Amino acid sequence: MPQDLVSAADYQRYAARHMTANARAYVDSAAADELSHAANLAAFARHQLQTSVLADVRGGHCRSELFGLQLSHPLLLAPVAYQKLVHADGERAAAYAACEVGSSMLVSTLASTPLEDIAAAASGPLWFQLYWQPQREVVLDLVRRAEAAGYRALVLTVDAPLAGVRNAEQRAGFQLPPGVFAANLAGYAQTPPAVAAGGSMVFDGLMAQAPGWQDLAWLRQQTRLPLLLKGVQGARDALRAIDCGVDGLIVSNHGGRVLDSVPASLDALPAVATTVAGRVPLLLDGGVRRGSDILKALALGASAVLIGRPYIHALATAGALGVAHLLRILQEELEVAMALTGCRTLADIDRQLLWTEAQA
Ligand code: FNR
Ligand code: LAC
Repeated sequence: MPQDLVSAADYQRYAARHMTANARAYVDSAAADELSHAANLAAFARHQLQTSVLADVRGGHCRSELFGLQLSHPLLLAPVAYQKLVHADGERAAAYAACEVGSSMLVSTLASTPLEDIAAAASGPLWFQLYWQPQREVVLDLVRRAEAAGYRALVLTVDAPLAGVRNAEQRAGFQLPPGVFAANLAGYAQTPPAVAAGGSMVFDGLMAQAPGWQDLAWLRQQTRLPLLLKGVQGARDALRAIDCGVDGLIVSNHGGRVLDSVPASLDALPAVATTVAGRVPLLLDGGVRRGSDILKALALGASAVLIGRPYIHALATAGALGVAHLLRILQEELEVAMALTGCRTLADIDRQLLWTEAQA
C-alpha cells in the first residue's frame, strides 16, 4: 500500500484516477444541488467528542452482534448497485473482503453479479437488499433466491421508488457500459411503467409500481428472515414500520442521491431513536468517513453504520485488498476514538460522549 493511502479521503483521491468519468458521475454524485449529501458530511463534522482521561480500557474491543452476524466492528458495506463499473471483480471482491475482516455486505438487487455468486465468493453470511419489483412473484422469487443462497437478513429500501433528479449524471450523460447490468433481474420479464395519455410518469408510472404499506405487510408474511427497512428518516414512519413487524431500521437519505434538501441522516437519527426507544436496532448511513463518525452515530442511537461511496473508492483503487484495508483503517480509528473517550465496549457509548459546552 502506498504510504499516502491511510484514510477514506485518500481512497477517494486515488479512486479519481482509477474510475472512468462515467463511473465517477454515477458513484460520486448526488441529487440536484447535492445539499443533502453535503449535509451528511457536515453533520458529522459539527459534532465533537468529549474525552475521558486516565481511563482503564484494557480488554476493550468494538465487536458486536447484529441479526446473527458476528462483527468485529459495527460497520457494514451498504448496498451499492453495479460495482463492476469500478472493478472487474465487482461485488464478489467487496463481499469477500468484508467477510475476511469480520464485517459483512448488504448485496443490492441491482448488483452487477448474481446474488448466488456473491454469496459463494464470501466466507461469511451476507444480507440482501431488496428493491421492490412491479410483480409480487418476482419479489418472492428474489426472496427465495436470497434465502436459498444463505442470506441472513432482508433489507427493503423504501426511499428510492424513483431515481430522483440526478443533474450531475445527466450532465455527464451517464450510461451503464456494455457488460454491466442488473444481473439479478436478468431472467425476469421487464414491465416498464405504462402511463395513459395525460397521466404523469411520476405519479401514475413510477409511483404506481412502487411498494406501499400493504406490500410491506405482505412481505413480512413471506419470510422468516429478519426484515429491515432502509431509508427511513421520520419517527412516524419508523413507528408504522415497527407496527408492520420490521426487525430493524436503517436511518438514511440514500447518500443524498434521491431527494435533495432532506436532512442529514445523522440529524434525523436522534428523534427516530427517541421514538423507537430501543424496540428494534437502528442502523445509519450517509457521510460516514472516519472511525470517530461511527462513534458519533452510536452515541446518537445507532447500533451500527454502513458506508457506501468510500468502499467503492477502495474497490476501484485496489479491489478486495482495498476494501479490507479501508475497513481495517476505520476499525482502528474507531478503537482510538473509543479508547480516548473512555469506552471499553460499544455498550459504554452514549450521548455523554458528545461534547457540549454545558458539560465541559
Ligand atoms: C447507492 N445506494 C443504494 N442503496 C440501496 O438501497 N440500493 C442500491 O442499489 C444503492 N445503490 C447505490 C449506488 C451508489 C453508487 C451509491 C453511492 C449509493 C445508497 C447506499 O446504500 C447508501 O445509503 C449511501 O451510499 C450512504 O452514503 P455514503 O456512505 O455514500 O455517504
Ligand atoms: C442509486 C440506486 C441504484 O442510488 O439506489 O444509484
